Amino acid sequence: MIELQKNSIDKRNNMLGNKQVWEKEYHKKNLMRGDKPQRFFLNFLKFLKKEYKKSEKNIDFSDLKALDLGSGEGKNSLYLAERGLEVHGIEFASNAICVAREHSRKKGLHINFIEKSFGSHFDLEDDFFNIIIDINSSNSLNEEERNIYLEESFRVLKSGGYFFVRIPAKDGDPNAKKLLKQFPAKEKDTYIIPEFGLKERVFSREDLIDCYGKLFEIVKLEKETRYTTYGSKKYKRNFWILVLRKK
Ligand SMILES: C[S@@+](CC[C@H](N)C(=O)[O-])C[C@H]1O[C@@H](n2cnc3c(N)ncnc32)[C@H](O)[C@@H]1O
Repeated sequence: MIELQKNSIDKRNNMLGNKQVWEKEYHKKNLMRGDKPQRFFLNFLKFLKKEYKKSEKNIDFSDLKALDLGSGEGKNSLYLAERGLEVHGIEFASNAICVAREHSRKKGLHINFIEKSFGSHFDLEDDFFNIIIDINSSNSLNEEERNIYLEESFRVLKSGGYFFVRIPAKDGDPNAKKLLKQFPAKEKDTYIIPEFGLKERVFSREDLIDCYGKLFEIVKLEKETRYTTYGSKKYKRNFWILVLRKK
């Protein structure tokens, strides 16, 4: 049974890249999971406010520039823009970008949603952003794209700027271990989610530190457990919450 499922996923994945998988998901219109940012992101914003207060830089949120990687239908970008930040989003699914632009237009906001992969050159200025967010987005990059994403994020972030990442964890997650065993993809710690067709990487704590710690200072690294829905099924999964700073 598993072998049959695996074969059909392999076939589907030969035909569909991750961009097409996401386009299809957004086309089905079953991705709208609330239009408010999730708790972990609101906590990060609270943390930022405290940090800016401590540093006595007297920074107002409306002086800040934010980049949302994998901005999807724009939930987090809109939230930041409504609070006065200058927001840019990079997203490769045109179905998602259309929805995000429409929401932004209706709210009278001016968000620069760029339709492209953030696994390639960002086409944005050096040292421009105070904040970069990557919420459940970079997990489907391949190794080559991940190196570009890391270098580009470092390049466009100002010195002292913050990078917030939420990414699936391997440690202590029986579902991740099952997926790695039953539906492995080619690169390290990657599998193909059967209900979805998406290739995804999970990270051990050690690999995560190795990946981000070369360029950024690690300010916070926490693990949280949440239920995630793929198709009609709910899975208990672990995620890393990572706050980084460019020195
Ligand atoms: C799980 S969704 C998260 C969306 C949004 N960050 C949020 O928290 O609601 C992942 C998003 O990343 C986008 N994405 C994944 N890989 C990407 C890439 N290489 N370039 C641009 N967008 C990408 C997907 O199309 C999707 O919209």
